Amino acid sequence: MDEPVVGDAFGELLRAALAEQTGRGPRPTIIAKYPTPVTELVERDDGFLSALPAARYLAPPADWVDLDHRALALVRGRVLDVGTGAGRAALALQERGVPVTGLDVSAGAVEVCRARGVRDAVLSTVADHTGRYDTFLLLGNNLGLLGSRRAAPRFLADLAALAAPGARIVAQGTDPYDTADPLHHAYHERNRSRGRWAGEMVMRIRHRNLATDWFEYLLCTPDELAVVLVGTGWRVEAVEPYPPRYLAVLVRA
Ligand SMILES: C[S@@+](CC[C@H](N)C(=O)[O-])C[C@H]1O[C@@H](n2cnc3c(N)ncnc32)[C@H](O)[C@@H]1O
Repeated sequence: MDEPVVGDAFGELLRAALAEQTGRGPRPTIIAKYPTPVTELVERDDGFLSALPAARYLAPPADWVDLDHRALALVRGRVLDVGTGAGRAALALQERGVPVTGLDVSAGAVEVCRARGVRDAVLSTVADHTGRYDTFLLLGNNLGLLGSRRAAPRFLADLAALAAPGARIVAQGTDPYDTADPLHHAYHERNRSRGRWAGEMVMRIRHRNLATDWFEYLLCTPDELAVVLVGTGWRVEAVEPYPPRYLAVLVRA
């Protein structure tokens, strides 16, 4: 059996979602009267597959959840929207006159951002990017970009190198334990048996024949986050719960 081709699956997903929204470009076939919405497929390393509508990445503020609005209210100064996706937060900030850069490692995501009007969208990792920012915004569960206990200090050091004095991270996290799904509990047990925390996930994004590389993605409680931050020069300043999610504000220790 052939494996998927490794490539910019997330970017192609966002391109398809933009085509779906605008009616321009290739988009899914409508089968009889059943629409086939562009769907994000997330494959976990235990074989679990989740499917969610990609349209949420292009959603205007009117369709956001409370947590997203609160996150934008917490930003100040120059903002780096880390893992901007289709740029929904960057666009909203830009419209409010907030200086914002949308950064993403996906070429397709950056192209979609520009097509949607994000003026400053960059294709880069945080390690390769330069600049000075007052707020790092990690929305759409992007606290997960810390990766794992092992990887987090590097990522946080890269943000520290871009931080203006008094800079903060405003991030959305998810408590992995706040679930009734037995398959998630079995995954936690599997991870623990391998010396990992329950929420130290490994996954990839699939789209048509494409897949991203497998990557680590951290789901952790606020208490676990505090442990991850020890020795990184960052500390938790505030946590606001939106179960099973939460908004965390991190500042330089
Ligand atoms: C779950 S989406 C969130 C998009 C957006 N923040 C939102 O709330 O709609 C994650 C995004 O992070 C990007 N990404 C993944 N790893 C990254 C990294 N190491 N640095 C920057 N962006 C990354 C992906 O390409 C994707 O666009």
